[in-house]
Amino acid sequence: MTPELCTLVTGASSGIGRETALRLSQHGPLLLHGRDVARLEETRVRCQHPERHHLWPHDLADLAGIERSLVQLLAAQGLQVARFVHCAGVLQVGPLRLLDRGAIERTMNVNFLSAVEITRLLVRKKINEKALNGVVFVSSTASQFGAKGFGIYCASKSALDGYMRALAVELAPAVRVNAVLPGAVRTAMTEHMFEDADVLERMQRDYPLGVGEQADIAAAVNFLLSDEARWVTGQQLVVDGGRTVNITG
Ligand SMILES: NC(=O)c1ccc[n+]([C@@H]2O[C@H](COP(=O)([O-])OP(=O)(O)OC[C@H]3O[C@@H](n4cnc5c(N)ncnc54)[C@H](OP(=O)(O)O)[C@@H]3O)[C@@H](O)[C@H]2O)c1
Repeated sequence: MTPELCTLVTGASSGIGRETALRLSQHGPLLLHGRDVARLEETRVRCQHPERHHLWPHDLADLAGIERSLVQLLAAQGLQVARFVHCAGVLQVGPLRLLDRGAIERTMNVNFLSAVEITRLLVRKKINEKALNGVVFVSSTASQFGAKGFGIYCASKSALDGYMRALAVELAPAVRVNAVLPGAVRTAMTEHMFEDADVLERMQRDYPLGVGEQADIAAAVNFLLSDEARWVTGQQLVVDGGRTVNITG
């Protein structure tokens, strides 16, 4: 059986990951990852050509279980992953003194170490032949800056960016590896911020291009995976409406 080439999108059950999946679904089969099967199924039916996409439900906090789960699924469905978008993420915010080790571990596993584990598997010939050619990590502008209570989130995204650069060098020329660094966009993760009128007003003031949308991030991911970006690797593409270059007082 000739393997089917697909794009794996983690975190495709919600927010930016779902929007990215919808955008990428025009190009070919997707492997849609998330924990919530009902919401993954919802993403699948909203994609173009729903019948050609596959689901991979897995809790990425369970790092040790990724290999078995993913390898079995690829073999059973006759899939190989040509492009990988890591969008799954958790935002754990709170003062350091209240941070417990479980939350630290979960954040690092979901945001960073699962991306390492998945790429480690996808470059193995026995598992994925030499199918992989493009990787995009959805990082955050928080990888570049600090904010109160964001220590572990910032660290997880900085780690992802550092890994992205090293991987870009190691896997060239066969695989291009980049990161998209979004500013704040409204999703389940950030809903609480957007519901706060003061925060919303501040955002409208601080973002020179105004508040962005999930589709703005999906468009950047789509660009980095496309042939239009054939000479781009190892880069952090900031998509934040100019927020991080705005020093207006
Ligand atoms: N929204 C923003 O303003 C913003 C800004 C910068 C960066 N980002 C980044 O963008 C990415 C997507 O975030 P979002 O805003 O779209 O958030 P979201 O709507 O909450 O989506 C998060 C996704 O991650 C998945 N996920 C969470 N914990 C998981 C776990 N333990 N195992 C497997 N999957 C898990 C969720 O799957 P289930 O729902 O199925 O559990 C969901 O699909 C994240 O990496 C985030 O850090 C977001």
